[in-house]
Order: sequence, then structure tokens, then C-alpha cells
Amino acid sequence: MSTLTITSSQQAIEIENKYGAHNYHPLPVVLTRGEGVHLWDVEGKHYYDFLSAYSAVNQGHCHPKIINALVEQAQQLTLTSRAFYNDKLGAAEKYICEYFGYDKALLMNSGAEAVETAIKLARKWGYLKKGIAPNQAEIIVVEHNFHGRTTGIISFSTDPDSTKGFGPYNPGYKVIPYNDTDALELALKENPNVCAFLVEPIQGEAGVMVPNDGYLAKAHEICKQYNVLLIADEIQTGIGRTGKLLASDYDNVHADILILGKALSGGVLPVSVALANDDIMLCIQPGEHGSTFGGNPLAATVAIAALEVIKEENLTENAHTLGHIFRERMNQIKLERPELVTLVRGRGLLNAVIISPTPDGRTAWDVCVKLMEKGLLAKPTHGDIIRFAPPLVITEEQLHECCDIIEEVLMSF
Ligand SMILES: Cc1ncc(COP(=O)(O)O)c(C=O)c1O
Repeated sequence: MSTLTITSSQQAIEIENKYGAHNYHPLPVVLTRGEGVHLWDVEGKHYYDFLSAYSAVNQGHCHPKIINALVEQAQQLTLTSRAFYNDKLGAAEKYICEYFGYDKALLMNSGAEAVETAIKLARKWGYLKKGIAPNQAEIIVVEHNFHGRTTGIISFSTDPDSTKGFGPYNPGYKVIPYNDTDALELALKENPNVCAFLVEPIQGEAGVMVPNDGYLAKAHEICKQYNVLLIADEIQTGIGRTGKLLASDYDNVHADILILGKALSGGVLPVSVALANDDIMLCIQPGEHGSTFGGNPLAATVAIAALEVIKEENLTENAHTLGHIFRERMNQIKLERPELVTLVRGRGLLNAVIISPTPDGRTAWDVCVKLMEKGLLAKPTHGDIIRFAPPLVITEEQLHECCDIIEEVLMSF
């Protein structure tokens, strides 16, 4: 048995198809190197990254400061488990709490784990603080949500691809329409056992669905009125992506529980967090929740570096400014090709362009394949949506160059 060396894209794709589970349908590009907004495939072709690993690489690929933090810490100590203290976790918890304005942080690894953590926190709070009878707590969620892939989380997904064939599903959730505060109020009025409302301030996976201005603020007001926690899942929208530090900031909402992941490590390793104040976080006692890798010193060190980069390089402000330019450029294309580009929406550098199928049946997938050939990587979703989300370190000049590529491709369809 010998280790295989990959020498061509074709070979890499074949080997993955043969030995890997078929749980993704990637674009046919095999990447080997990344730096900032740039990616290269195994044949040496250059691409601009317009997905950023689903917004995990906000700080750009292989950011030197984050990689240095990783390497230095990796040579010192990587994992102790939480059976012992380590000298990095506390500093990271303090830094993250002060950065986002919470009393306490609970570090996990993947986004889904942080969502599960928030659900457990909300339920425990519901029993201990709100006085909900045992096992009666309910969480309100919204249609087209995406919070991850665990069996618990898919129990309240409305996407058949996520749920079909994976039941039975967990009870304890009620789904209401997104962007509908009347429905929220009704749900809370009907059931005194609701402990939390779990929501993405902008729905990323649903296709960058931006709710009405004031939606989150109104939702939070209603939650407060009914003594219900607002849980903001900012795993995709947080950490500068939408042109504010958090998408919730557009509504001046400080969620009762905030969930972050993805860019919390600049895409370097899995690190996620649930943040809350003491009255909520201290509902969980030793032995009731945890993870072998959660809060490890390597992830803790990387998370601090990743958050420092966001501030030091003004990436949130860059996302805000360049987001406007991007949508302006896309709307210009929409004006010229209204039958093909039907809608442009988004905030900061989290944007979507909706593509109508061409008369000969070409779709958003075909547009993305063409973009790939021209050196720009973006991924279609739901058949007709292309999400454009470059690393936030992109410059205005690079953005215009990328808009030129998108324009050239769309005009050729
Ligand atoms: C809003 C949101 N929540 C949760 C998740 C799940 O994160 P992970 O894939 O790290 O488990 C995602 C991933 O796309 C997400 O966008």
C-alpha cells in the first residue's frame, strides 16, 4: 500500500469519486494552493475565489498572521481536552466575549455543534429560568433555514434534500415563515413553552435571503415580551461578511445567544462558539455538555488571530464599500440582460444573482462552469441562484476585474 501523488485534476476527481462518499457535487476544479483571494488548481491555472468556503475564508486564504499563530501554537501544544485547563482558552474566551459583548463563550468546532449548543442552552434556560415543565420546551424556527446537518438540526429543516430518508425527526420545533413577525407573535402567544426563536439574520444557504429592514429588531422585541430567547445564527453572516461585524447590527440587535463559526478561524481549522450572558450560559453545569476538541489551544489561538485580522485590516468596512460597488455592477448587467439576470440581492460581500434558465435550458450551473473556465469560482444553489462571496481582503481593483469576468460570461449567455 503506497500513498498516491495526485498529478492531474482528472486523476483527483476520479479518485475522489471512487473512494469518497458522494455527498457533494463539486464544480470540476481541483485546487492545490490559496493566497488571499487567489486559488490555483493542480495544473497551475489561477482563479479568483468567490465562495470563500461558504464565507469561512473572510480573511483570505492562508493569511500569514493566522498561519503564523497556527504554526507557533502547533509546535507548543495542540490538544489537552477540557479535562485540564490550558493557557490559551481563557484568553480566547475573554477576547471573543469582549469583541462581541457577551459575558461568556462556549467554544466548539463545527457550526452545527455550536447550533446544537445554543439549542441545549436555550432549553436548559427554559426549564431552569422560565419554568417550562420537563421536556416541553419548544423552539421556533423559520422556513428555508439552514443550521447544519446533524440529526437534531435537520429535524426542523424544510429542505427535502436535508431531511428525506433521515427520519425519525426530533420533536420540539415549530416552523414559521421567514420575515414574518406576525407569525412569530402568534406562535409565542399560542405556546407558553417556547424557550427560543432561532434565526439567521440573512439566510445564506437559502440563497442570500435578506429580510425587511427592522425584521430582527421587531422579532427581538416580541421575544422579550414573551420571555423567549433570540438565538442569532451568524455562522455565515457574522465576522464582517455583510458589511457590519454582525448582520444583526443592521437592526441594532444584540441576540441573547449568538452563534459563530466559519470565519472565526479564517478558514484554517474548525472553530465555533456560542456566546451568551451569565444568566443563560451558567445554566449548563460541568459534565452536561462538551467536546474533545472544543476549546483546544490551537483553535483558541487561531481564533484570536482571525478576529484581530478583521479589525486590523478593516475588513468589515471593505465588505461594506465593495458590496455596494459589486451590486451596482451586477445591477448594470441586469439592466442589459433582464431576461437572464432577474434579481441581485445581498449585503456587504454576501450577494446573490438570480439567473433565469436560457431558452436552450442553460442554468446557473452552466454560468458557474463558464466562470470557472474564465478563472472565477462561484457555486450555484437551488438551480437558479449564484452566490458571490469573495474573501473580504479583495481590493476594489480586483473586484472590478472579477465583475468584468462575470459581465463577460453573462453577456455571452
Ligand atoms: C447559517 C449556518 N448555520 C450553520 C451552518 C453549519 O456549519 P457547519 O457546516 O460548520 O456545521 C452553516 C453552514 O453553512 C450555516 O450557513
